[in-house]
Amino acid sequence: MTTILAPEPALSVIQAVAHHARIGLTSTPKSLSPWLFYDEVGSHLFEQITELPEYYLTRTERSIFIDHADEIIARAAHTHSHHQPALTLIELGAGTATKTGLLLAAAVRQQGSVVYQPVDVSESALAAASANILANIPGVTVRCQVADYTREPLPLNRLPNTRTLALYIGSSIGNFDPIAAVEVLANLRAQLQPGDMLLLGADLAPGTHKSIPQLLAAYDDAAGITAAFNLNILARLNRDLDADFALANFRHQARWNPTESRIEMHLESLIHQVVTIPADSGSPSLTLTLEPGETIHTENSYKFTSAAITTLLTSADFIPTHTWQDPAALFAVTLATAI
Ligand code: AVJ
Repeated sequence: MTTILAPEPALSVIQAVAHHARIGLTSTPKSLSPWLFYDEVGSHLFEQITELPEYYLTRTERSIFIDHADEIIARAAHTHSHHQPALTLIELGAGTATKTGLLLAAAVRQQGSVVYQPVDVSESALAAASANILANIPGVTVRCQVADYTREPLPLNRLPNTRTLALYIGSSIGNFDPIAAVEVLANLRAQLQPGDMLLLGADLAPGTHKSIPQLLAAYDDAAGITAAFNLNILARLNRDLDADFALANFRHQARWNPTESRIEMHLESLIHQVVTIPADSGSPSLTLTLEPGETIHTENSYKFTSAAITTLLTSADFIPTHTWQDPAALFAVTLATAI
């Protein structure tokens, strides 16, 4: 599994689901791409994950913004020239933008007002983000952009005398393998000007502060929400494609892969079983056989050392200028300049 590209715009969502499911499930080993998690049920389960006691990522990144939003915005705006351009914030994969409000409020404090351009594939998430920001942070102008930042150019509407601060937070970058991660950032860089800034949120690799059991628990919580999130990918194929996955015959699995420095999520087949995805307009029916213990690989979530974050950014022509971590060194937020 090397890519998590979202649906091609020319295809309907269901056609894209069918296309990607067929590719992944006929590969060896079997896999499904993690964008398939995020139908309505899956997006709701992900929101629940972000509030779990074991899932430290969201609340830790939020705590970094609570502690450092003013400094983050001040450093992003700082320039050696006499003229201080206003910052415009653009966010890749904004979702409901719940953490971004902390940065927008800091930008309003420092420059009086700010233009915020959230980019996401989900129109409903953007509507929620926009309503939330407009209701709570006076001084923000929101310009929503429905786009897939992994394949379409960013719709950057640059105003004169502004500097763009691109936000790519939440460790979304962790879903991409190292080559694809550089591609995503290089694609962003190509649409920025020298001196524009990037704020990257990345989950840190286990080490002296973070143990492997703590990391695994974040992806295998006691309440079973992550298991439900993972299994929902099969439920979605049943709903969207009329497949006949019996969810009780699969078990959620989270593994730490130390060689690749990533959490892997898999769905393990508990028995020998045969699953059918019926024919649709474009393709014949697909019959899959799964052996006991065989898995479908559904997600990679890469974990970064500070050195790996620097390498990633510099490979995409950004120079890291400052990093903030929480006191327990679980998560890192890095500001970088486009060169
Ligand atoms: C949204 C990709 C950052 O990798 O932690 C959460 C997705 N998967 N629990 C992550 C996820 C299982 C999440 N990202």
